[in-house]
Amino acid sequence: MSRREDIFFLAVRSYLVFEMLKRKLRFCHNLRFRLFLGLTLILVIISVLKVNQKEDFLNQRHLELTKEDPVSNVNCTKIIEGDIEEIQKVKLETLSVSFKKRPRLTTNDYINMTADCASFTKTRKYIMEPLSNEEAEFPIAYSIVVYHKIEMLDRLLRSIYAPQNFYCIHVDKKSPESFFTAVKGIVSCFDNVFISSQLESVVYASWSRVQADINCMKDLYSRSSNWKYLINLCGMDFPIKTNQEIVEKLKALKGENSLETEKMPVYKEVRWKKHHEIIDGKIKNTGTDKQLPPLSTPIFSGSAYFIVSRRFVEYVLESSKILKFIEWAKDTYSPDEYLWATIQRIPDVPGAVSSSDKYDVSDMNALARFVKWQYFEGDVSKGAPYPPCSGVHIRSVCVFGVGDLNWMLRNHHFFANKFDTDVDPFAVKCLEEYLRHKALYMQKK
Ligand SMILES: *[C@@H]1O[C@H](CO)[C@@H](O)[C@H](O)[C@H]1NC(C)=O
Ligand SMILES: *[C@@H]1O[C@H](CO)[C@@H](O)[C@H](O)[C@H]1NC(C)=O
Repeated sequence: MSRREDIFFLAVRSYLVFEMLKRKLRFCHNLRFRLFLGLTLILVIISVLKVNQKEDFLNQRHLELTKEDPVSNVNCTKIIEGDIEEIQKVKLETLSVSFKKRPRLTTNDYINMTADCASFTKTRKYIMEPLSNEEAEFPIAYSIVVYHKIEMLDRLLRSIYAPQNFYCIHVDKKSPESFFTAVKGIVSCFDNVFISSQLESVVYASWSRVQADINCMKDLYSRSSNWKYLINLCGMDFPIKTNQEIVEKLKALKGENSLETEKMPVYKEVRWKKHHEIIDGKIKNTGTDKQLPPLSTPIFSGSAYFIVSRRFVEYVLESSKILKFIEWAKDTYSPDEYLWATIQRIPDVPGAVSSSDKYDVSDMNALARFVKWQYFEGDVSKGAPYPPCSGVHIRSVCVFGVGDLNWMLRNHHFFANKFDTDVDPFAVKCLEEYLRHKALYMQKK
């Protein structure tokens, strides 16, 4: 029953009760008592409506993702619990013919679906209201750098979407036209999601990767002064925490940033000691020496991913010291893996930490990203940082399978990388269901 029908029936019922009472009780002819009775009834109606509204809000069964894909009989509860048999079952299923032939959402599907935004957000089950006051009062900004795989983008977006947050999507200049149109379609359905005003053609390990994030940073910064923290993502990231959990942890940071920043290994120094150039779409070392960086802080090693405060972003966009450093970094190899890590160690940067070794933060200690590097995987009981990858490796990084979820979810990171529905769609599906259930039923009231 819709809310409007509810109100209608309630009003009719109340009127009948009122008429009945009027007949039964003679003093009803007393005007004061009538007024009293009328007011009481109105108050009862209001409180009943309020209760209804709260129950509606808590029982958002239509927002559950469990029944979205009824053809597959994978039990995600078991997967999340780390059930060996269930994980094995999924592995067998991904090898089957019917699995390879499963229907998938294409860019055209998204262009079609987003023509009707109300229907799109409903059928794709986006949560269109803040789930708590605490979340509503703590908006987060996201910079998302994508190239292809529209369904992954949609699923990532809906898993982090909240109406109070801000989302800038950087679409690669090289992306197919249909992908770009589909992203435009998705973006058109939300006031707080937009495409970066400046698009780069992103070349692996080159400056363009950093520039894409900086473009979104600028847009987000001028878009709203409400958001408190900025988190950057790529199309293969997926959250392992709910928005509520992220808000709680960000508040606990009290203005500090959280990202990997460690001593630079000597073998990586060539990356910024030599001048690099893009030749035939690939970044190459020209062998020419570069000048030393325009900083007294040494160069630190880290990753492309950060969790930084609004004040950090403001400083990066406005400080002449940082702008000089950025100019200097443009012809180096993989500046994403040292730029943020180094800025985080410069005194005066809001939320920065000392450049002393004692303040080094590893990827496992930072909140930003959980990644499994092939050469560190092993037996945790013998000192390995994480167990072996249950999916496949791409450039030594694990693309997660369902068997990775149980261990991963015990970590404090906000996001994990990499996920790919083409490698293991059940890993994404089970994670989505787990997070959605947590967000809807374990929320603070
Ligand atoms: C999935 O597994 C859980 C835990 O073993 C069990 O309680 C639940 O009933 C199962 N769900 C289905 C649909 O089989
Ligand atoms: C989308 O696809 C459906 C089913 O194929 C079709 O009926 C509908 O007209 C399409 N909508 C648009 C806006 O193209």
